[in-house]
Amino acid sequence: MRKLIPIYVRIPLLYAIMFAVLEYFIDSGDRPAFIKYPIVALFHIVFIFLLIAIEVVLNSVEKVSYHLLSPEEKVQYDLEQTKPIAQQEAFKRWMNKFTASKSIHEEADVLLDHDYDGIKELDNVLPPWWVGLFYGTIIFALVYLVRFHIMDEYNQDQEFATEMQVADKAVEEYMKTAPDVMDKDKVTLLTDASAIAEGKTLFDANCVACHKADAGGAIGPNLTDKFWINGGGIKNVFNTIMEGGRPGKGMIPWKDQIKPTQIQKIASYVLSLQGTNPKDAKPVEPEAKEWKDEATVPSADKTATVVVDSTAKK
Ligand code: HEC
Repeated sequence: MRKLIPIYVRIPLLYAIMFAVLEYFIDSGDRPAFIKYPIVALFHIVFIFLLIAIEVVLNSVEKVSYHLLSPEEKVQYDLEQTKPIAQQEAFKRWMNKFTASKSIHEEADVLLDHDYDGIKELDNVLPPWWVGLFYGTIIFALVYLVRFHIMDEYNQDQEFATEMQVADKAVEEYMKTAPDVMDKDKVTLLTDASAIAEGKTLFDANCVACHKADAGGAIGPNLTDKFWINGGGIKNVFNTIMEGGRPGKGMIPWKDQIKPTQIQKIASYVLSLQGTNPKDAKPVEPEAKEWKDEATVPSADKTATVVVDSTAKK
């Protein structure tokens, strides 16, 4: 086997395999394991050293044993070395271990007396590599049977659930650092309870000073009625929170402090308060207009043509 792969391939190959295995199994985040953990780097050095040492030792053993051979044996050995690998004795012995095949002049030993019109049958043994695999499958089946049918370790549903959990975690991790992609063209109203709850938390932390906890309005206007200065509907409300209200009115742009996807949640929360009629709500601002339908707002869709309903009674 050693002769099959030359030393300048063997050592880098073994080293590469070891490297890949270490990097695969050691969880070192975004940095390679051998940089994060100095001990791994040390292991690399020791491993290369060992590889070379083993080669050196094997080489010398070979040289010494060659020296110990008698002159005839040396001739014999040299002759062997000049043959192609497949014809060398060592290789043949090795192959024989795997296949246990009989050479053609030994076939008489395993010939059965079955004779079908001159077609004869050999009683060859099963090749050991095959038998090995076969026993391997039995052992596998036994282990599987005990683990999954007797001990009930886990089933496919649980496996799926665990994998989904791992994936959810990964998505969460990704979202923490991922660029936040949400703008007023893409924004949609969220209605799921967790998004609304998150929106409420953010609102309570940032907005109650001017809009009151019930959003009834104080310095800032009442956000629960259908009258809006900067336009209602998710797109406008999102946009106002992102970019701020009219200049000089006190409503700052929040996009530098709060991520756009979180602002989407706040806006969704604010809109979920529509019609809650809080006590002592601030009266409607003179500039505010009643908000009816999203499609009629110029900022939401500037190209929308206004359809006049001529059948409507004035
Ligand atoms: C410093 C006080 C202050 C804070 C804090 C504040 N606002 Fe405002 N907000 C205002 C004022 C004043 C206006 C009116 C702006 C205008 O007239 O254009 C306003 C307007 C708004 C409007 C538009 C109302 C309309 O009728 O068009 C929304 C929506 C809004 N705020 C949401 C929020 C949210 C969400 C937060 C928390 C992230 C927040 N505000 C924090 C003072 C504030």
